[in-house]
Amino acid sequence: MDRCHRWIGLTLSLLAVLSDPGFGSSIIEGPRNLTVLVGSMARFNCTVSDGWGVLVWLFDGNPRLTVLSDGKYYASLKRYSQQSHRNGNLFTSELMITDVQRNDTGQIKCSIQNEEDNMYAYLFVQVNGSLTIKDNNFTVRENQTIKIVCEALGWVPAPYIFWMENNISLNNSKYITNQSPGSNGLYNGESILTLTPMISVNVTCLAALATLSRPQNATVTVTVYQPTQKGSGNNQDERNRTIILAVVLSVVGLLLVIFIILLIVCCKRRRESNYQKEMKRNISENKTTNRNLETTSHSGNENYGYSPEETMYDTVQMTGNATVRPRFYGPNQDANMSHTAESGEQLVLKEQIKVTLTVDYHLLERVLGSF
Ligand SMILES: *[C@@H]1O[C@H](CO)[C@@H](O)[C@H](O)[C@H]1NC(C)=O
Ligand SMILES: *[C@@H]1O[C@H](CO)[C@@H](O)[C@H](O)[C@H]1NC(C)=O
Ligand SMILES: *[C@@H]1O[C@H](CO)[C@@H](O)[C@H](O)[C@H]1NC(C)=O
Ligand SMILES: *[C@@H]1O[C@H](CO)[C@@H](O)[C@H](O)[C@H]1NC(C)=O
Ligand SMILES: *[C@@H]1O[C@H](CO)[C@@H](O)[C@H](O)[C@H]1NC(C)=O
Ligand SMILES: *[C@@H]1O[C@H](CO)[C@@H](O)[C@H](O)[C@H]1NC(C)=O
Ligand SMILES: *[C@@H]1O[C@H](CO)[C@@H](O)[C@H](O)[C@H]1NC(C)=O
Ligand SMILES: *[C@@H]1O[C@H](CO)[C@@H](O)[C@H](O)[C@H]1NC(C)=O
Ligand SMILES: *[C@@H]1O[C@H](CO)[C@@H](O)[C@H](O)[C@H]1NC(C)=O
Ligand SMILES: *[C@@H]1O[C@H](CO)[C@@H](O)[C@H](O)[C@H]1NC(C)=O
Repeated sequence: MDRCHRWIGLTLSLLAVLSDPGFGSSIIEGPRNLTVLVGSMARFNCTVSDGWGVLVWLFDGNPRLTVLSDGKYYASLKRYSQQSHRNGNLFTSELMITDVQRNDTGQIKCSIQNEEDNMYAYLFVQVNGSLTIKDNNFTVRENQTIKIVCEALGWVPAPYIFWMENNISLNNSKYITNQSPGSNGLYNGESILTLTPMISVNVTCLAALATLSRPQNATVTVTVYQPTQKGSGNNQDERNRTIILAVVLSVVGLLLVIFIILLIVCCKRRRESNYQKEMKRNISENKTTNRNLETTSHSGNENYGYSPEETMYDTVQMTGNATVRPRFYGPNQDANMSHTAESGEQLVLKEQIKVTLTVDYHLLERVLGSF
């Protein structure tokens, strides 16, 4: 089929040359260089003046499509086609190549069988590769430097890589890009952005090609956290620890104080009870002397001491001043008197102890209050 078309083309060309050598006809405007993306359509124009017989499109020297002056054409490949445009005495053949492949890159020539009039251009095919930001931990501390790696794979040619932060282009001093040819004539690129964000940002890596109406992009959100928050948490912990320590020390201190107070109270009580014993001993000694005195004074009238007046006087004297004692006591009176004296001493001691306890209680209260 291909060969058949080729032969038909050649035969037509030969016929055209023989019937009409194209004298007086010329190519007014040849095709122009073109760059397209893989898979898209390529279009080339060739404008000729009147008087032409056959127009042939060649790719890298091989006839691919032949146009006759009546507008009929024969293509060696299905993907090749043409459209005729007439404008006065000018004819324009518009070649269309659909689903362009990488191996369509090459020379496109327009010929009207006039060796001096053939014109050519080049078709370039680009490949839109992949673009990805390599997986990383994009949660960073405030002012922490992070390296973000963007990888472009399988491009033709190597793309122009640049970066944006919150949709604003970054200065190219902030990143380094390396490109290398990969397998099958495809190119790979790697760009490393060094960033020290203070707030959370959207970072975009972009790869541009002439044929891409908008650059391909890959975006990540770099989340920045404040280390001060963590710091304050530590401070809180420290404060808590200090509080616990203070409480423990206070309790221990309080227990110590209570213990000391109890010790003091005990000592005082013991000392006082000793004092009391001593006092009792003293009193009993006094009693014996008093008895002795009695025995000496009992030589008189025994009933004398029983005078109610005297007893009254005696009682008054007792309450007034215990040291001043009448010399003439009855034996019962004497016993009563000494007993009363002893009770008085005990009372005083009790009061003293009470006071001591009260004072101690106040002290304790004051100590507790200080906590
Ligand atoms: C077309 O591409 C070729 C090859 O790159 C170049 O030499 C030529 O100058 C280009 N022509 C125009 C008009 O740009
Ligand atoms: C070719 O020429 C025609 C007619 O002038 C025009 O409509 C078309 O856009 C041109 N195509 C190219 C690829 O320049
Ligand atoms: C061009 O590439 C396509 C697919 O990429 C393939 O099918 C075709 O055979 C190739 N053509 C030539 C002439 O190598
Ligand atoms: C290029 O490739 C990307 C990723 O595959 C795709 O999203 C985008 O649409 C492509 N662009 C074109 C113009 O084909
Ligand atoms: C990322 O890093 C932060 C802080 O360095 C950490 O808290 C978080 O768990 C990490 N995330 C992952 C998925 O590794
Ligand atoms: C980050 O840098 C800014 C400016 O240099 C400074 O004000 C801020 O305190 C820094 N933050 C930390 C956590 O170092
Ligand atoms: C980024 O800027 C472009 C043009 O300047 C705009 O079209 C696009 O919507 C913006 N994107 C965001 C996320 O703001
Ligand atoms: C990029 O940074 C360099 C050095 O920091 C500076 O000289 C240059 O002017 C900057 N370019 C732009 C476009 O801001
Ligand atoms: C990042 O982009 C998303 C979606 O476009 C937006 O909701 C968010 O606010 C942006 N974050 C920042 C820090 O600009
Ligand atoms: C990234 O690509 C998407 C889809 O093409 C587009 O909507 C978005 O605006 C692009 N972002 C930037 C920053 O160019």
